[in-house]
Amino acid sequence: MAILINTCIFLLLVCCCFPTTSSERDEPYVGVNIGTDVSNFPSPSDLVSFLQFQKITHIRLYDADPQILKSLAKSKIRVIISVPNNQLLAIGSSNTTAATWIQRNVVAHYPETLITHIAVGDEVFTTIPSSNPILLTAMQSLYSALVVANLHQNIKISTPCSASIILDAFPPSQAFFNQSLVPTLLPILEFLGKTGSPLMMNLYPYYVFMENKGVVPIDNFLFKPLIPSKEMVDPNTLLHYTNVFDAMVDSVYFSMRNLNVTNVVVLVSEIGWPSKGDSTESFATVDNADTYNSNLIKHVLDRTGTPLHPEITSSVFLYELFNEDLRSPPISEANWGLFYGNTTPVYLLHVAGSGTFLANDTTNQTYCIAVDGMDLRTLQAALDWACGPGRANCSEIQPGEACYQPNNVRNHASYAFDSYYQKEGRASGSCDFKGVATVTTTDPSHGSCIFPGSKKTSNKPKEMVNNSDEASGAQRVKSFVIVSSRRTSAIHKGSRYFIAVALLTFVFLFLL
Ligand SMILES: *[C@@H]1O[C@H](CO)[C@@H](O)[C@H](O)[C@H]1NC(C)=O
Ligand SMILES: *[C@@H]1O[C@H](CO)[C@@H](O)[C@H](O)[C@H]1NC(C)=O
Ligand SMILES: *[C@@H]1O[C@H](CO)[C@@H](O)[C@H](O)[C@H]1NC(C)=O
Ligand SMILES: *[C@@H]1O[C@H](CO)[C@@H](O)[C@H](O)[C@H]1NC(C)=O
Ligand SMILES: *[C@@H]1O[C@H](CO)[C@@H](O)[C@H](O)[C@H]1NC(C)=O
Ligand SMILES: *[C@@H]1O[C@H](CO)[C@@H](O)[C@H](O)[C@H]1NC(C)=O
Ligand SMILES: *[C@@H]1O[C@H](CO)[C@@H](O)[C@H](O)[C@H]1NC(C)=O
Repeated sequence: MAILINTCIFLLLVCCCFPTTSSERDEPYVGVNIGTDVSNFPSPSDLVSFLQFQKITHIRLYDADPQILKSLAKSKIRVIISVPNNQLLAIGSSNTTAATWIQRNVVAHYPETLITHIAVGDEVFTTIPSSNPILLTAMQSLYSALVVANLHQNIKISTPCSASIILDAFPPSQAFFNQSLVPTLLPILEFLGKTGSPLMMNLYPYYVFMENKGVVPIDNFLFKPLIPSKEMVDPNTLLHYTNVFDAMVDSVYFSMRNLNVTNVVVLVSEIGWPSKGDSTESFATVDNADTYNSNLIKHVLDRTGTPLHPEITSSVFLYELFNEDLRSPPISEANWGLFYGNTTPVYLLHVAGSGTFLANDTTNQTYCIAVDGMDLRTLQAALDWACGPGRANCSEIQPGEACYQPNNVRNHASYAFDSYYQKEGRASGSCDFKGVATVTTTDPSHGSCIFPGSKKTSNKPKEMVNNSDEASGAQRVKSFVIVSSRRTSAIHKGSRYFIAVALLTFVFLFLL
């Protein structure tokens, strides 16, 4: 009982301390990072047409490319521009250089081009710690220059941090910043608080998963519906976590709270899942990337916040728009993109009904199947509904028919769900069945059992798939390479080891 009361007081404190004034809180959005290590990178004008075609409204650039910024003018696309790490020193050492930078990269383009943030450096604490002392100075000098231009209300200054600056991230309530970074980090957090700017975090649940295979089920990473016993419970707060993303975001809030910083929101500046990897990366698959990113987008646009801060949903920037084929191995490094450089999709997100993010996300076929591990009675009830009031065509799962085997509820439910889903034109909401169904790009047909919507039946008029290849009608692509000065080393990994060990502890706590 005492523990419960303590927890409540604790939660009250946490929630009441939180500020209610920040533009970050208004409408959560999903943006994309645009890395340029792409052999056939589109021309700036083609890039902007493509972004508009795909209804992408927020982007982050790793520099402040003047041609791209010029092309973005009047597009209403909101953009984070960046000071590359190799310019930090110059800007941090001279107010004049900072002022010139703002003139050239911000004032020259704003407000025609809607610059929203300046990301100063990238993962400075973990990649070039020698620049730590100059980071805040650079941010302050850029801020002063914005003040002079009277743009400091419209444009926020922050710095993207690697998740590895947080130690013991799980359970979230025990997370704290690496103590040796606090002397530089705390003044930066205070700066962010004072200027109403977010803390930018690059979060990579994929790497956390890679270090924890077999310990935390992949469903917890992929935002799959969980049976209650698979939820993660923070023993200190009793908050229930149904996905690792929320836990990671809350670990940032708890870390800030440990430093008494309660007026800074988290902006997720990088997050994603690779669609391809080498032999050691068997979870870097198109299906996992698609599921991860689709569910992440829905999670953000659903505005459910996190268990700690249900009132705040962090916006996220997917990593990334294009596969950067020029990046060095491991293979996954070149396969984080939603699209190839020629703007054809690597896979198609399933975000229909979640606002307007990404046009034409159903070019290729999708299917609706039963989720693994769901309660059989719930599944049976959904199956009964689909074949009854839902008027799915369930003839193929009758005894003796092609899809009767394997004769179990899950298999039959999958067939019935898919029949219903295809009949409804794969409309949003038609693959839910109270959470026991999920969309997949993998054709569930097996043997002679052909699922509705399968290409194997697409010559039958009845099952005709509307498969017009819209996305490739996109842009004529000219060869155009922008020399990139961004990340020079594989920086995502950070001190994953510590996250891994902590996550193990977290899980075992629940099992006790
Ligand atoms: C540069 O700007 C900072 C922050 O506004 C200010 O504190 C400092 O005095 C300035 N330095 C010079 C040399 O002008
Ligand atoms: C904490 O940061 C310091 C300084 O960057 C680094 O040397 C150390 O390895 C970090 N500690 C952990 C546990 O990551
Ligand atoms: C946070 O505030 C508490 C209570 O005011 C204080 O005891 C503690 O030293 C503060 N911690 C930091 C890191 O400022
Ligand atoms: C779409 O389908 C075609 C033919 O099955 C396949 O080659 C292609 O890779 C698919 N594209 C995506 C984005 O899934
Ligand atoms: C998406 O596809 C539809 C056809 O299904 C097409 O009419 C439309 O033009 C495409 N969307 C965009 C933004 O072009
Ligand atoms: C139901 O599906 C079967 C097999 O695909 C098909 O032969 C039959 O015509 C369908 N029935 C209806 C009413 O669409
Ligand atoms: C495909 O979808 C488009 C837009 O939804 C529609 O106009 C067109 O008639 C459909 N084509 C077929 C063959 O169903």
